[in-house]
Amino acid sequence: MGNRMTALTLTKFLTQIAADQPAVAASVRALAGVAVELSATIARPDSTAQLGAVRGSANADGDDQKKLDVLADEMIATALAAVDHVAAYLSEERDAAIQLHDGGDVIVASDPLDGSSNIDTNVSIGTIFSILPASGGSLQPGRNQLASGIFVYGPQTTLLVTCGDGVFAFQLGTDGQFHDMGWQVRMPAETSEFAINASNSRHWAAPVSRYIADCLAGSAGPRQRNFNMRWVGSLVADGWRIFRRGGIFLYPADARDGYHNGRLRLVYEASPMAFLVTQAGGRASDGQQDILDIVPDALHQRVPLVFGSANEVDEFVKYGS
Ligand code: F6P
Repeated sequence: MGNRMTALTLTKFLTQIAADQPAVAASVRALAGVAVELSATIARPDSTAQLGAVRGSANADGDDQKKLDVLADEMIATALAAVDHVAAYLSEERDAAIQLHDGGDVIVASDPLDGSSNIDTNVSIGTIFSILPASGGSLQPGRNQLASGIFVYGPQTTLLVTCGDGVFAFQLGTDGQFHDMGWQVRMPAETSEFAINASNSRHWAAPVSRYIADCLAGSAGPRQRNFNMRWVGSLVADGWRIFRRGGIFLYPADARDGYHNGRLRLVYEASPMAFLVTQAGGRASDGQQDILDIVPDALHQRVPLVFGSANEVDEFVKYGS
Protein backbone atom coordinates (compact mmCIF):
# COMPACT_ATOMS: atom_id res chain seq x y z
CA MET A 1 0.00 0.00 0.00
CA GLY A 2 2.99 2.33 -0.57
CA ASN A 3 2.63 5.83 -1.97
CA ARG A 4 3.44 6.55 -5.57
CA MET A 5 3.40 10.27 -6.31
CA THR A 6 1.76 10.79 -9.68
CA ALA A 7 1.96 13.73 -12.05
CA LEU A 8 -1.53 14.78 -10.99
CA THR A 9 -1.42 17.90 -8.87
CA LEU A 10 -4.34 19.35 -6.94
CA THR A 11 -4.28 22.25 -9.39
CA LYS A 12 -4.82 19.90 -12.34
CA PHE A 13 -7.41 17.87 -10.45
CA LEU A 14 -9.36 21.05 -9.67
CA THR A 15 -9.15 22.16 -13.29
CA GLN A 16 -10.92 18.89 -14.20
CA ILE A 17 -13.50 19.38 -11.42
CA ALA A 18 -14.09 22.97 -12.55
CA ALA A 19 -15.59 21.77 -15.84
CA ASP A 20 -18.72 20.57 -13.97
CA GLN A 21 -18.39 22.14 -10.54
CA PRO A 22 -16.65 25.51 -10.83
CA ALA A 23 -17.81 26.73 -7.43
CA VAL A 24 -16.48 23.59 -5.73
CA ALA A 25 -13.15 23.83 -7.54
CA ALA A 26 -12.73 27.51 -6.66
CA SER A 27 -13.59 26.90 -3.00
CA VAL A 28 -11.21 23.96 -2.59
CA ARG A 29 -8.47 25.98 -4.33
CA ALA A 30 -8.96 28.82 -1.83
CA LEU A 31 -8.93 26.42 1.13
CA ALA A 32 -5.78 24.71 -0.17
CA GLY A 33 -4.07 28.10 -0.33
CA VAL A 34 -4.88 28.63 3.33
CA ALA A 35 -3.65 25.12 4.19
CA VAL A 36 -0.26 25.81 2.56
CA GLU A 37 0.10 28.98 4.65
CA LEU A 38 -1.08 27.30 7.85
CA SER A 39 1.30 24.42 7.33
CA ALA A 40 4.22 26.86 7.04
CA THR A 41 3.04 28.83 10.07
CA ILE A 42 2.77 25.70 12.22
CA ALA A 43 6.21 24.46 11.12
CA ARG A 44 7.98 27.74 11.94
CA PRO A 45 10.46 27.42 14.81
CA ASP A 46 8.98 28.67 18.10
CA SER A 47 5.53 29.06 16.59
CA THR A 48 3.63 26.30 18.34
CA ALA A 49 3.84 27.49 21.92
CA GLN A 50 2.45 30.86 20.91
CA LEU A 51 -0.14 29.42 18.54
CA GLY A 52 -1.39 27.08 21.25
CA ALA A 53 -1.93 29.90 23.73
CA VAL A 54 -5.50 30.34 24.90
CA ARG A 55 -6.84 33.53 23.45
CA GLY A 56 -9.22 34.04 26.34
CA SER A 57 -12.71 33.80 24.94
CA ALA A 58 -14.56 30.52 24.34
CA ASN A 59 -15.89 29.77 20.84
CA ALA A 60 -19.55 29.15 19.96
CA ASP A 61 -19.26 25.63 21.45
CA GLY A 62 -17.80 26.76 24.74
CA ASP A 63 -14.31 25.41 23.97
CA ASP A 64 -11.22 27.51 24.69
CA GLN A 65 -10.16 29.32 21.55
CA LYS A 66 -6.43 29.05 20.82
CA LYS A 67 -4.54 31.65 18.85
CA LEU A 68 -4.22 29.24 15.91
CA ASP A 69 -8.00 28.57 15.91
CA VAL A 70 -8.63 32.26 15.43
CA LEU A 71 -5.86 32.73 12.88
CA ALA A 72 -7.04 29.77 10.78
CA ASP A 73 -10.63 31.00 10.89
CA GLU A 74 -9.67 34.52 9.80
CA MET A 75 -7.49 33.18 6.97
CA ILE A 76 -10.34 31.02 5.66
CA ALA A 77 -12.85 33.86 5.92
CA THR A 78 -10.51 36.13 3.93
CA ALA A 79 -9.77 33.48 1.29
CA LEU A 80 -13.45 32.62 0.76
CA ALA A 81 -14.44 36.29 0.61
CA ALA A 82 -12.31 36.48 -2.55
CA VAL A 83 -14.33 33.68 -4.23
CA ASP A 84 -17.49 35.03 -5.88
CA HIS A 85 -19.08 31.57 -5.92
CA VAL A 86 -19.26 31.41 -2.12
CA ALA A 87 -22.55 32.64 -0.69
CA ALA A 88 -21.71 32.08 2.98
CA TYR A 89 -19.05 30.76 5.35
CA LEU A 90 -20.07 28.73 8.40
CA SER A 91 -17.30 28.40 10.96
CA GLU A 92 -17.07 26.36 14.11
CA GLU A 93 -15.34 29.41 15.58
CA ARG A 94 -18.27 31.79 14.99
CA ASP A 95 -21.78 31.99 16.36
CA ALA A 96 -23.43 32.84 13.06
CA ALA A 97 -22.86 32.43 9.33
CA ILE A 98 -20.83 35.07 7.51
CA GLN A 99 -22.75 36.11 4.42
CA LEU A 100 -20.32 36.63 1.53
CA HIS A 101 -21.66 36.91 -2.03
CA ASP A 102 -25.30 37.36 -3.05
CA GLY A 103 -26.11 34.83 -5.73
CA GLY A 104 -23.14 32.61 -4.76
CA ASP A 105 -23.60 28.92 -5.57
CA VAL A 106 -22.14 27.26 -2.48
CA ILE A 107 -21.89 27.46 1.29
CA VAL A 108 -18.59 26.41 2.87
CA ALA A 109 -18.62 25.05 6.43
CA SER A 110 -15.36 24.48 8.28
CA ASP A 111 -13.68 23.52 11.48
CA PRO A 112 -10.67 25.75 10.71
CA LEU A 113 -8.35 24.05 13.19
CA ASP A 114 -9.33 20.61 14.41
CA GLY A 115 -7.52 19.05 17.35
CA SER A 116 -6.59 22.36 18.97
CA SER A 117 -5.63 20.69 22.26
CA ASN A 118 -2.75 19.16 20.29
CA ILE A 119 -1.40 22.43 18.82
CA ASP A 120 1.53 22.80 21.16
CA THR A 121 2.28 19.09 21.47
CA ASN A 122 3.73 18.50 17.98
CA VAL A 123 0.86 16.13 17.15
CA SER A 124 -1.12 16.23 13.90
CA ILE A 125 -3.90 18.80 13.66
CA GLY A 126 -5.99 19.80 10.67
CA THR A 127 -8.71 21.69 8.84
CA ILE A 128 -12.07 20.10 7.99
CA PHE A 129 -14.39 21.47 5.32
CA SER A 130 -17.76 20.80 3.77
CA ILE A 131 -19.19 22.38 0.60
CA LEU A 132 -22.97 22.54 0.21
CA PRO A 133 -25.29 23.98 -2.43
CA ALA A 134 -26.31 27.52 -1.42
CA SER A 135 -29.88 26.80 -2.49
CA GLY A 136 -30.34 24.45 0.51
CA GLY A 137 -29.52 27.06 3.15
CA SER A 138 -27.31 26.64 6.21
CA LEU A 139 -29.02 23.62 7.76
CA GLN A 140 -28.80 20.80 5.23
CA PRO A 141 -28.24 17.07 5.68
CA GLY A 142 -24.74 15.87 4.89
CA ARG A 143 -26.18 13.86 2.00
CA ASN A 144 -26.43 17.21 0.08
CA GLN A 145 -22.68 17.85 0.23
CA LEU A 146 -20.95 18.57 -3.07
CA ALA A 147 -17.48 18.08 -1.60
CA SER A 148 -15.71 17.63 1.70
CA GLY A 149 -12.20 17.11 2.90
CA ILE A 150 -9.58 17.19 5.61
CA PHE A 151 -6.18 18.85 5.53
CA VAL A 152 -3.78 17.31 8.06
CA TYR A 153 -0.74 19.20 9.33
CA GLY A 154 1.47 16.40 10.60
CA PRO A 155 4.69 14.66 9.58
CA GLN A 156 3.29 15.31 6.09
CA THR A 157 0.80 17.99 5.11
CA THR A 158 -1.93 16.12 3.28
CA LEU A 159 -5.41 16.50 1.87
CA LEU A 160 -8.12 13.87 1.57
CA VAL A 161 -10.90 15.24 -0.61
CA THR A 162 -14.07 14.01 -2.25
CA CYS A 163 -16.16 15.83 -4.81
CA GLY A 164 -18.68 12.97 -4.81
CA ASP A 165 -16.74 10.54 -6.98
CA GLY A 166 -14.31 8.74 -4.68
CA VAL A 167 -11.65 10.09 -2.34
CA PHE A 168 -8.32 11.50 -3.53
CA ALA A 169 -5.20 11.84 -1.38
CA PHE A 170 -2.71 14.66 -1.95
CA GLN A 171 0.53 15.53 -0.20
CA LEU A 172 2.12 18.96 -0.07
CA GLY A 173 5.51 18.92 -1.75
CA THR A 174 8.51 21.18 -1.25
CA ASP A 175 7.40 23.01 -4.41
CA GLY A 176 4.34 24.33 -2.53
CA GLN A 177 1.97 22.17 -4.62
CA PHE A 178 -0.27 19.32 -3.51
CA HIS A 179 0.59 16.12 -5.43
CA ASP A 180 -1.59 13.05 -5.82
CA MET A 181 -0.22 10.37 -3.50
CA GLY A 182 -1.09 7.67 -6.02
CA TRP A 183 -3.05 5.76 -3.44
CA GLN A 184 -6.57 4.55 -4.03
CA VAL A 185 -8.46 5.61 -0.92
CA ARG A 186 -10.67 2.58 -0.11
CA MET A 187 -11.20 1.77 3.53
CA PRO A 188 -10.93 -1.95 4.39
CA ALA A 189 -14.36 -3.29 5.42
CA GLU A 190 -12.92 -5.33 8.29
CA THR A 191 -10.81 -4.09 11.17
CA SER A 192 -9.48 -5.06 14.58
CA GLU A 193 -8.52 -1.55 15.72
CA PHE A 194 -10.71 0.88 17.63
CA ALA A 195 -10.33 4.51 18.70
CA ILE A 196 -12.22 5.90 21.67
CA ASN A 197 -11.36 8.13 24.62
CA ALA A 198 -11.56 5.38 27.24
CA SER A 199 -11.20 7.83 30.12
CA ASN A 200 -14.92 8.49 29.69
CA SER A 201 -15.89 4.84 30.10
CA ARG A 202 -17.69 5.33 33.42
CA HIS A 203 -20.06 7.75 31.66
CA TRP A 204 -20.86 5.55 28.65
CA ALA A 205 -24.27 4.05 27.94
CA ALA A 206 -24.54 0.25 28.35
CA PRO A 207 -24.30 -0.65 24.60
CA VAL A 208 -21.03 1.29 24.21
CA SER A 209 -19.59 -0.34 27.33
CA ARG A 210 -20.65 -3.78 26.07
CA TYR A 211 -19.15 -3.21 22.61
CA ILE A 212 -15.79 -2.06 24.02
CA ALA A 213 -15.75 -4.83 26.65
CA ASP A 214 -16.22 -7.38 23.85
CA CYS A 215 -13.33 -5.82 21.86
CA LEU A 216 -11.13 -5.89 24.97
CA ALA A 217 -12.00 -9.52 25.66
CA GLY A 218 -10.12 -10.31 22.45
CA SER A 219 -9.77 -13.86 21.22
CA ALA A 220 -11.25 -15.22 24.45
CA GLY A 221 -14.45 -13.16 24.05
CA PRO A 222 -17.42 -13.15 21.68
CA ARG A 223 -15.49 -11.30 18.92
CA GLN A 224 -12.95 -14.18 18.84
CA ARG A 225 -10.05 -11.96 17.86
CA ASN A 226 -7.73 -9.48 19.51
CA PHE A 227 -8.26 -5.72 19.06
CA ASN A 228 -5.71 -2.93 19.17
CA MET A 229 -6.49 0.60 20.36
CA ARG A 230 -5.31 3.99 19.02
CA TRP A 231 -6.47 7.47 20.12
CA VAL A 232 -4.61 10.53 18.85
CA GLY A 233 -7.18 13.03 20.09
CA SER A 234 -7.32 14.93 16.77
CA LEU A 235 -10.28 13.74 14.73
CA VAL A 236 -8.39 14.45 11.48
CA ALA A 237 -5.43 12.30 12.53
CA ASP A 238 -7.54 9.42 13.85
CA GLY A 239 -9.60 9.68 10.67
CA TRP A 240 -6.55 9.68 8.38
CA ARG A 241 -5.22 6.52 9.99
CA ILE A 242 -8.58 4.82 9.50
CA PHE A 243 -8.72 5.82 5.81
CA ARG A 244 -5.29 4.31 5.43
CA ARG A 245 -5.60 1.00 7.24
CA GLY A 246 -9.18 0.70 8.47
CA GLY A 247 -10.47 1.00 12.03
CA ILE A 248 -13.46 2.28 13.95
CA PHE A 249 -13.66 5.70 15.63
CA LEU A 250 -16.19 6.35 18.36
CA TYR A 251 -17.15 9.57 20.12
CA PRO A 252 -20.45 8.45 21.61
CA ALA A 253 -22.93 10.36 23.72
CA ASP A 254 -22.22 9.99 27.42
CA ALA A 255 -23.69 11.00 30.76
CA ARG A 256 -21.46 14.03 31.41
CA ASP A 257 -23.09 17.45 31.38
CA GLY A 258 -22.95 18.79 27.84
CA TYR A 259 -22.14 15.39 26.27
CA HIS A 260 -25.65 13.99 25.85
CA ASN A 261 -25.16 14.27 22.10
CA GLY A 262 -21.45 13.49 22.16
CA ARG A 263 -18.81 16.10 21.55
CA LEU A 264 -18.36 16.52 17.82
CA ARG A 265 -20.29 18.96 15.67
CA LEU A 266 -22.55 17.69 12.93
CA VAL A 267 -22.05 20.51 10.42
CA TYR A 268 -18.31 21.13 10.86
CA GLU A 269 -16.92 17.70 11.74
CA ALA A 270 -19.27 14.70 11.50
CA SER A 271 -20.94 15.45 8.14
CA PRO A 272 -17.76 16.20 6.16
CA MET A 273 -16.03 13.18 7.70
CA ALA A 274 -19.08 11.01 6.94
CA PHE A 275 -19.09 12.07 3.27
CA LEU A 276 -15.40 11.19 2.92
CA VAL A 277 -15.83 7.90 4.78
CA THR A 278 -18.81 6.88 2.66
CA GLN A 279 -16.99 7.78 -0.55
CA ALA A 280 -14.11 5.55 0.60
CA GLY A 281 -16.46 2.60 1.18
CA GLY A 282 -16.83 3.01 4.96
CA ARG A 283 -19.80 3.97 7.14
CA ALA A 284 -20.63 6.78 9.57
CA SER A 285 -23.48 6.54 12.08
CA ASP A 286 -24.75 8.17 15.23
CA GLY A 287 -25.54 4.66 16.48
CA GLN A 288 -29.01 4.68 14.97
CA GLN A 289 -28.97 6.46 11.64
CA ASP A 290 -26.51 7.36 8.95
CA ILE A 291 -24.82 10.67 9.77
CA LEU A 292 -25.49 11.86 6.21
CA ASP A 293 -29.28 11.63 6.77
CA ILE A 294 -29.39 13.87 9.85
CA VAL A 295 -30.87 17.30 9.17
CA PRO A 296 -29.20 19.77 11.54
CA ASP A 297 -31.53 21.93 13.59
CA ALA A 298 -28.74 24.25 14.72
CA LEU A 299 -25.37 25.22 13.28
CA HIS A 300 -23.41 24.08 16.31
CA GLN A 301 -25.41 20.91 17.02
CA ARG A 302 -23.38 18.04 18.44
CA VAL A 303 -23.85 14.44 17.40
CA PRO A 304 -22.60 11.03 18.58
CA LEU A 305 -20.16 9.88 15.88
CA VAL A 306 -19.06 6.37 14.97
CA PHE A 307 -17.29 5.86 11.68
CA GLY A 308 -14.85 3.64 9.88
CA SER A 309 -14.67 0.17 8.39
CA ALA A 310 -18.15 -0.72 7.16
CA ASN A 311 -18.55 -4.13 8.80
CA GLU A 312 -17.29 -2.90 12.17
CA VAL A 313 -19.63 0.12 12.22
CA ASP A 314 -22.50 -2.26 11.38
CA GLU A 315 -21.36 -4.51 14.23
CA PHE A 316 -21.39 -1.56 16.66
CA VAL A 317 -24.90 -0.54 15.54
CA LYS A 318 -26.14 -4.08 16.36
CA TYR A 319 -25.29 -3.46 20.04
CA GLY A 320 -28.10 -0.87 20.07
CA SER A 321 -27.96 2.61 21.59
O1 F6P B 1 -13.50 18.57 18.48
C1 F6P B 1 -12.20 18.66 18.73
C2 F6P B 1 -11.48 17.41 19.14
O2 F6P B 1 -10.20 17.83 19.50
C3 F6P B 1 -11.41 16.30 18.08
O3 F6P B 1 -10.42 16.57 17.13
C4 F6P B 1 -11.09 15.07 18.91
O4 F6P B 1 -11.52 13.87 18.30
C5 F6P B 1 -11.86 15.34 20.17
O5 F6P B 1 -12.08 16.75 20.25
C6 F6P B 1 -11.11 14.88 21.39
O6 F6P B 1 -11.92 15.00 22.48
P1 F6P B 1 -11.46 14.51 23.95
O7 F6P B 1 -10.42 15.49 24.38
O8 F6P B 1 -12.72 14.58 24.75
O9 F6P B 1 -10.93 13.13 23.80
